[in-house]
Amino acid sequence: MSACELKESLDVVLNFDDKDKKTILIVDDEENNIQLLKRTFRNSYNILVAHNGLEAIDVVKQNASKIALIVSDQKMPVMEGTEFLKIVNETNPQIIKILLTGHVGTDIIVSAINDCNLFQYILKPFEPEELKIAVESGIEKFSMTEHNQSYYRELKELFYKTIRAISNALDTKDSYTNGHSLRVTLYSMILARELNLDAAYLEDIEIAGLLHDIGKIAMPKSILCKNGRLTDEEFVVMKSHPTRGEKIVINIKKLHIIAEWVKSHHEKYDGTGYPDGLKGEQIPLAGRIIALADTYDAMTSTRPYRTALSHETAINEIKRCAGTQFDPKLDELFVSLADKIDEARKNPEEYYNKYSLLGKNIDFHITSEAAIQSSSQK
Ligand SMILES: [Fe+2]
Repeated sequence: MSACELKESLDVVLNFDDKDKKTILIVDDEENNIQLLKRTFRNSYNILVAHNGLEAIDVVKQNASKIALIVSDQKMPVMEGTEFLKIVNETNPQIIKILLTGHVGTDIIVSAINDCNLFQYILKPFEPEELKIAVESGIEKFSMTEHNQSYYRELKELFYKTIRAISNALDTKDSYTNGHSLRVTLYSMILARELNLDAAYLEDIEIAGLLHDIGKIAMPKSILCKNGRLTDEEFVVMKSHPTRGEKIVINIKKLHIIAEWVKSHHEKYDGTGYPDGLKGEQIPLAGRIIALADTYDAMTSTRPYRTALSHETAINEIKRCAGTQFDPKLDELFVSLADKIDEARKNPEEYYNKYSLLGKNIDFHITSEAAIQSSSQK
């Protein structure tokens, strides 16, 4: 390595940790081109270098969270630029991609733009200034997306904390149901995880669990906190809470599907539940899941008119109600998870944090309209 090349390498290392600068990855097999690109960009960006597609995939794997933009040559040994960029796009679509290429057919360019989510291609030979402008606007796009994502995360965290606060407020309204919503959500999440549902659906189940009894806010305290069994008239009022809950939740635009689930958590598989007497799979999957979790928690909690049943008695009762009160397949799954549920019941806060997706403020899954649509069909 010449003295000049050694200095260049040291510059790369020295520059790489500058946190105020964005990082770009240069992928090219020709050393002269690499040096030209380094000289063009080293004052403005941290620079990483790879000499072929395979090496570049490794660099991306190790530095994915740092790399904002890739400038890749097309014609390289081992792997063509478009092939490499396509692989990167599958795992890291957020990285901006620029391709340097000689004259190729329009069809190759079009498929590169589509398959690799190419930001721009630049024909060789090019002026450094031309590439500089492309990189600057690519970095601008990356920064804007990054900013939007962080704003979205903040909004989502605020939304989640608000839902938790409402749910906690509801749980403390009646000392007998203290912690009920949290535990119902926890048992629902345990069950839902076993069904291999997608992340958007699991997040929605979490919200639905926390809000399933929100309609009880509208119940008079004399009924909600009555020290004894409810009269028939009082029970009629109490039975309106799923519908009242639906009305509260449906006004929140993104919770349209959840409103339906809140409404259905007292439906029974044989059609004898309320408010609509839905039967079997007419009841949304989430409604069937929450119904099991809700009943188990009600049985294992002390109520004004009886002390808590043991875990074993509650599980036997759940078994007995397979196909009548509960979806038989979900019932079987719930029973198979009995030990896990019993553990969770003894330490709900700790287990909740383990199972919660929304509570983890990391890389929030963005619940898109499409995801809501697909979850509604389950
Ligand atoms: Fe309820």
